[in-house]
Amino acid sequence: MKTNNHSDLLYRSLADNLISLIEKGTYRIGERIPSVRKMSKQQSVSISTVLQAYLLLENQGWIEARPQSGYYVRAKISEQAPEPEISSPAKDPSRVSLHELAMMLMRDTMDPELVQLGAALPNPNYLPIEKINKALTNASRLHAVDGHRYIIPPGLEELRIQIAKRTVLSGCHISPNDVMITSGGLEAIDLCLHAVCRPGDIVAIESPMYFGTLQTLEVQGLRALEIPTHPRDGIDLEALSFAIQHNPVRAVIVISNFNNPLGSQMPDEKKKELVNLLARYEIPLIENDVYGELFFGEKRPLVCKSFDKKGLVMLVSAFSKDISPGLRIGWVAPGRFKTELEWLKFTISASPPTLPQYAIADFIESGGYDRHLRRIRREYARNIELMSSAVTRYFPSGVRLTRPSGGFVLWVQLPENVDSLDLYKKALAEKITLAPGHVFSATNQYANFIRLNAAEFNYSIERSLEKLGTILKEIIE
Ligand SMILES: Cc1ncc(COP(=O)(O)O)c(C=O)c1O
Repeated sequence: MKTNNHSDLLYRSLADNLISLIEKGTYRIGERIPSVRKMSKQQSVSISTVLQAYLLLENQGWIEARPQSGYYVRAKISEQAPEPEISSPAKDPSRVSLHELAMMLMRDTMDPELVQLGAALPNPNYLPIEKINKALTNASRLHAVDGHRYIIPPGLEELRIQIAKRTVLSGCHISPNDVMITSGGLEAIDLCLHAVCRPGDIVAIESPMYFGTLQTLEVQGLRALEIPTHPRDGIDLEALSFAIQHNPVRAVIVISNFNNPLGSQMPDEKKKELVNLLARYEIPLIENDVYGELFFGEKRPLVCKSFDKKGLVMLVSAFSKDISPGLRIGWVAPGRFKTELEWLKFTISASPPTLPQYAIADFIESGGYDRHLRRIRREYARNIELMSSAVTRYFPSGVRLTRPSGGFVLWVQLPENVDSLDLYKKALAEKITLAPGHVFSATNQYANFIRLNAAEFNYSIERSLEKLGTILKEIIE
């Protein structure tokens, strides 16, 4: 009894000490605290005492355990800005016209003078540059002649084998023949839409929606039907079902895991319901999973495709967020639309770049990709945490903020009277760029929202967020 009381006191006092160190800022949000072994040595207490203390701190929301990595200080949820509510976009389909705004944002990404909080670019320090360059060199040596040939659709078999193997982790059972390599995710989405829609058709999308996809709808002359979407668990199925019953919807597009810009992740049961709903109406689903590998939790989330019995789901992904946006390698598992997609791909651009396909296949097969992903998942989780806490600290009260469990973007709702284009212009004068909410809707639903790229967090970015907070307060006053 005595011993129990004693160890009870020990772990509680250890936990209290740690809380006070966190409060004083000795251990900062996102930082790793000493490992269990190290702490046990440092404090001359048993491993089980430290484990008990860490469990207590975890339950109280002070720290979180990250698999194979250790314990990290968390931003306390109660201290974070509240989440935005579910969106309520216009109920009628609309043509898209966003090219001017989109081109303006695209030009910003090329300006090295700007602090880049706009485009959803991966952190260049988290790309496996050296390893992939080495794999490219190897590929050019091993495939000196082949490396300069077209590889006609469906693309390099070695890479398709690696992709098919990885999709097992997201719940799929697809063969290498069910995969087609594309020039990035954008091309894959473009091809999917081409295969199933004609100009003027209606495509139901989550709202807000990544503006690259809105651009594709614009180019193909399609109409967007925006569906209410929850910032945590994605598209509202009741609203989608209603929309389908009242409109001739030709296709649906979702980013089921770590939506851009919402960060939402559809629960598995909801993914299944969505697939079943669309199967009843024979409507194709284009599932964009480019962020699926960047999860912060224990397990790779499933994809809608894993519930697809009719071949109606076209699963799209790319290596642009975790290996290299510039290599331009994406892929699609097109289900029953395989023949159309291969024909379209061949007709439009014949082949994706050849050497990058060899290099990526090699990088995955060697185990390098998995090791790399384990590292960057932790880094992105930390940066999201740090940026969320900075936004809460520096932005005026009344802002709302998403809580992504993967990916690297944050969606911020500003007070009603703030026009994010106005904020964008004022921020640009201070050499900061961001993505105004206007570009995430065909019907301008998000004028008082911005998307922030949280891929990177450092001193200069923190100062830029502070500056944005000051500009916002001036706008509100
Ligand atoms: C949701 C989403 N899909 C696709 C892309 C583009 O992918 P890729 O560069 O492979 O064409 C992006 C890039 O921002 C994205 O956020």
